Amino acid sequence: MRVAITGANGLLGGEAVAQAAGAHQVLAIGRGPCRLPPGRYQWASADLADGHSLEAALLAFRPEAVLHAGAATDVDGCEREPAMAWRTNVGGTEQAARACAALGARLVAVSTDYVFDGAAGPYGEDDVPNPRGAYARSKRCGEEAALLLAPGSAVARVAVVYSGRPGAKATFATQVVEKLTRGEPVKAFSDQLVSTTLAASGAAMCLELLLETGYQGVLHTCDAGVIDRVAFARRVAGRFGLSGEIIPVETASVKLPAPRPLRGGLKVDRATALLRHRPLPLDVALDRFHAEWMSRAGR
Ligand SMILES: NC(=O)c1ccc[n+]([C@@H]2O[C@H](COP(=O)([O-])OP(=O)(O)OC[C@H]3O[C@@H](n4cnc5c(N)ncnc54)[C@H](OP(=O)(O)O)[C@@H]3O)[C@@H](O)[C@H]2O)c1
Repeated sequence: MRVAITGANGLLGGEAVAQAAGAHQVLAIGRGPCRLPPGRYQWASADLADGHSLEAALLAFRPEAVLHAGAATDVDGCEREPAMAWRTNVGGTEQAARACAALGARLVAVSTDYVFDGAAGPYGEDDVPNPRGAYARSKRCGEEAALLLAPGSAVARVAVVYSGRPGAKATFATQVVEKLTRGEPVKAFSDQLVSTTLAASGAAMCLELLLETGYQGVLHTCDAGVIDRVAFARRVAGRFGLSGEIIPVETASVKLPAPRPLRGGLKVDRATALLRHRPLPLDVALDRFHAEWMSRAGR
């Protein structure tokens, strides 16, 4: 199949390109030059925020399926620049959806647990979102843009994405490993309950949802379980055999531009029933994360 993947330089999009390349004709779409390892895919640069270049790239490639994983993901950056967040996360998804509607292509748009306010998680797909903050609102409106403008589309929500893949950007999980390895303490929020997503696992679920199902509407495609960030840091440290100080911090004690959901997390029963690539238990996800990390050059 002809498959286009946006956010290709990102955590989830990069994994999706790596998994789909070879099996499909893949157009990887990212901002600026390609930062992925070489592979059997084409590259196109497009700006999600400019109102037209993503749509033009898609119309030129004529994909049968589009995984839209590109987004402005810096939650506090979005709070500081809400217009940029809107242009990128709503406008970018609108471009993808318009192109898919014109081409009759299937769209899966990736979204976030942050569409919920974190008052009473974990949340199922039918729970009513209540986004707080510019990032959360822009992602929630992006969900609607996809579902309303691209017939038959799906939204795949993930949460706390991390990857050990060579070249993947730093995340909380990689910072835990790097700081504890250097003997530095790690600060972690003790009162944020989250689901987590190994990028390789989330990408596999998103690709399966896109290419092997006709599922329409919202699906939670993170890994299984809900955990607070201190416990998550401890589990990461334990898997890497690292000891060291993990300092619990309360969210309210840190002045952050954007609000954070506290009792968050996503239920994954539906994805577990629907997909071959099931949401992973945390110990399995961390085994894979460790293997990815160890495959980095020089380790
Ligand atoms: N990361 C998380 O913890 C998390 C949690 C919940 C949901 N999500 C969602 O998961 C999806 C995948 O995110 P991710 O985790 O892979 O994050 P990521 O690594 O930040 O990837 C996002 C990609 O989007 C690209 N991008 C941003 N603005 C752009 C623009 N104006 N034009 C073109 N490309 C642009 C970024 O390009 P550059 O690489 O050049 O910056 C980046 O490669 C997103 O929908 C995100 O909202 C992520």
